[in-house]
Amino acid sequence: MSKQISGGKKVTTKTVRQMKGTEKLSMLTAYDYSMAKLVDNAGIDMILVGDSLGNVMLGYEATTHVTMEDMIHHTKSVARAAKRCLVVADMPFLSCHLGKYEAVKNAGALVAEGGAAAVKIEGGTEVCETIKAITDAGIPVMGHLGLTPQSVNQLGGYGVQAKTDAAAEKLISDAKAVEAAGAFAVVLECIPHALAQKVTEALGIPTIGIGAGPHCDGQVLVLHDMLGMFDDYVPSFVKRFAEVGKAIDAGVRDYIKEIKSGEFPAAK
Ligand code: KIV
Repeated sequence: MSKQISGGKKVTTKTVRQMKGTEKLSMLTAYDYSMAKLVDNAGIDMILVGDSLGNVMLGYEATTHVTMEDMIHHTKSVARAAKRCLVVADMPFLSCHLGKYEAVKNAGALVAEGGAAAVKIEGGTEVCETIKAITDAGIPVMGHLGLTPQSVNQLGGYGVQAKTDAAAEKLISDAKAVEAAGAFAVVLECIPHALAQKVTEALGIPTIGIGAGPHCDGQVLVLHDMLGMFDDYVPSFVKRFAEVGKAIDAGVRDYIKEIKSGEFPAAK
């Protein structure tokens, strides 16, 4: 995989599709202007304005509390910063389950008001009519299979999914259905590595893994997890690429110390 399709050009859903089998896709979450600017400048292919903002930005225990207003608000700030990467916004809990009209309207709001280039929807065969309706409206859709956090109450926790043969078969057929419905890529979250490889080989669209091993066409992580900025709960598959939380702690402590001692601000 040496040829670089992405280069310095604006990343589109067409670029993302073309990168399958040629260049691994990089994706991170971001939820605000400053962080999105840093991430975009560093050369990421895609930013996901994930509903994980419910956990890391708003302090909720589950993503089920995140609203369309929350998503639009954060997507707007990311879209203002992202010059090169593709911005994908999550469709929050129940925003696409109350009929096709409501789903297209909400996806449209994330694009028209929020400035996203695409939306992400959790679920398999059961959301395929919705994926088709949204893509038919001209809005690209990324699928999301395996551990789908909006269904945590049904799944009974955040563990590895599709561990039985039957569940693995269902996931493969869901992935094919999501592709047939028009999705341009699909996130595979917390599934066995061998299954992620099978899905990746079975699909013509890229798979983006998170806790799904090295065989996917790309990888996504929650920014706050990989930069060490959030430790309420850190999934075991997360790799820490920096210790930003520790740097912030040290900087804030120095600031407080210098105010108390009178060292800051200096007289001049
Ligand atoms: O909301 C999110 O951050 C996500 C990723 C974990 C894929 O959906």
